[in-house]
Amino acid sequence: MDYQAVLDQVAAEVAPHVGRGQVASYIPALAAVDAGRFGMALADVDGTVTGIGDWQTPFSIQSISKAFALALVLAQDGESLWRRVGREPSGNPFNSLVQLEYENGIPRNPFINAGALVVTDRLQSLTGDASTTMLDFVRAQSGNPEISFDPAVASSESEHGDRNAALAYFMAAYGNLDNPVPTVLEHYFWQCSIEMSCRDLATAGAFLARHGLGADGSRLLSAREAKRINAVMLTCGTYDAAGDFAYRVGLPGKSGVGGGIVAVIPGRCTLAVWSPGLDAHGNSVAGVAALDAFTTLTGWSVF
Ligand code: DON
Repeated sequence: MDYQAVLDQVAAEVAPHVGRGQVASYIPALAAVDAGRFGMALADVDGTVTGIGDWQTPFSIQSISKAFALALVLAQDGESLWRRVGREPSGNPFNSLVQLEYENGIPRNPFINAGALVVTDRLQSLTGDASTTMLDFVRAQSGNPEISFDPAVASSESEHGDRNAALAYFMAAYGNLDNPVPTVLEHYFWQCSIEMSCRDLATAGAFLARHGLGADGSRLLSAREAKRINAVMLTCGTYDAAGDFAYRVGLPGKSGVGGGIVAVIPGRCTLAVWSPGLDAHGNSVAGVAALDAFTTLTGWSVF
């Protein structure tokens, strides 16, 4: 497969969508990003990386961090996490509070904000420093030691973090957080603020295409755990648009309000795409269109 030719064609098809949608503004530091950016990278399981457009420009990974957090916790802790968080799609927006009371403080899945706060809480208990553990992990897997937090984004989110605080305190009232709420929120905001490029994300997420094997060939996750993360990404990774994402793209995917999406073709490659304009569900408009075009052109999807 001539990856460069395929990505060129994807970029040409997607060009009319770039700039559509709204840049996230509920975290004010994200609102300054140019909506006209577009990049895409593909990391093959053999280590080859191919990119197009702004594929080497760092951006705020936001909720894509939730996939790394889940991998780190499953790697260290195994299946016990599932007593504290479910693995069903929520059918509600990523920051919704509504199901938590009906479901006794157990979030539907690890990719909505409530579920990610539980995963971060567990990672904090396991490591003593959840956000630095994640930063070290993505640096090692991508081979890029320059990856860093964006303190302006982390503090902007903290200043406007009442909704995540409400979710965390509500779960704490049900006994579903072990660490103090401010500690959990701080590590959650810092991990969301990590800045990575499409190149970094495709390579850092390659273990999900390699059935759990890391960049140096060492085993990060069992093949079964990697399969499970991909399954939860497919069903829950794009929130209340996961059905539409499966319909259009047909791959496990995890989006973030920075406009990034990571998608996995198990056994073949990991894709990362970035364009900041979001749809009403918080997913990149051009990013979803690019993945749709990619799987249509290549015929590579799980379906
Ligand atoms: O907690 C938040 O609201 C953000 N830090 C992350 C949300 C997000 O990226 C949702 N994804 N599309």
